[in-house]
Amino acid sequence: MTESSRKNIMVELIKVGKVYPPDVEALTEISLSVSPGEMLFLTGKSGAGKTTLLRLLCRIEQPDKGLVEIDGMELGKLSRHKVQQLRRRIGMAYQDFKLLPERTVARNIALAMEVTYQKKSFIRRQTRTLLDRLGLKSKARARTADLSRGEQQRVAIARALANNPDLILADEPTGNLDAESTARVMELFDEHRRRGATILIATHDPSIYSDSGHRVLELKDGRIVEQEKDHESRGEKE
Ligand SMILES: Nc1ncnc2c1ncn2[C@@H]1O[C@H](COP(=O)(O)OP(=O)(O)OP(=O)(O)O)[C@@H](O)[C@H]1O
Ligand SMILES: [Mg+2]
Repeated sequence: MTESSRKNIMVELIKVGKVYPPDVEALTEISLSVSPGEMLFLTGKSGAGKTTLLRLLCRIEQPDKGLVEIDGMELGKLSRHKVQQLRRRIGMAYQDFKLLPERTVARNIALAMEVTYQKKSFIRRQTRTLLDRLGLKSKARARTADLSRGEQQRVAIARALANNPDLILADEPTGNLDAESTARVMELFDEHRRRGATILIATHDPSIYSDSGHRVLELKDGRIVEQEKDHESRGEKE
């Protein structure tokens, strides 16, 4: 058993550094622990390193320094097979969506469940529920290429949530959404948090973290500059 699983930590980064060739220091000395069932917001200006941090957690990128652990497993030490197993427990909503443009909305969501060998009845039910919850019911048979940005964004979120993952990584999930869709998305995330999922959300949208009571972590030039719980900061102002 590793240190993280003994401490009941879902995500742990220890002195993580990431440099993109030739010399872009995207992250420097990032140390961070996230508990199971916690919702954490990553904020910071464009280029601060938010996406890079999320990409390290699903091992699209690897760190140049330090350790990244998910549920007590050090990612750098996992075999390819173990990484694949772990990825099935992670739902990532990408900043650029990464949808299959020629496939329908329903196919894009269903495929995520087919690769994890879910039953057909579950896939049908889950796809319908997610489309309904995200206001996309009438778009089930549309090609994702024909959708608006905000609709595509919601498909990306539905796909990330489809397998009820233990870890949800959402990169700017409300960037293209109006207030009503934003509320729907945040309500869904909150339901997943309450069933025990750990959720990291990179965002520029203060409306989703102000007054949320969840931890907000600000990145600046690849370093953590601020960590606050919203209710604590409110307490200080009073
Ligand atoms: N593949 C890459 N190759 C080279 N540099 C990169 C690459 N990806 C990101 N960077 C650089 O790393 C830094 C951090 O980028 P990152 O995408 O993590 O920022 P971000 O906080 O997500 O920004 P945004 O809010 O615009 O999405 C930036 O300086 C960026 O230009
Ligand atoms: Mg980004």
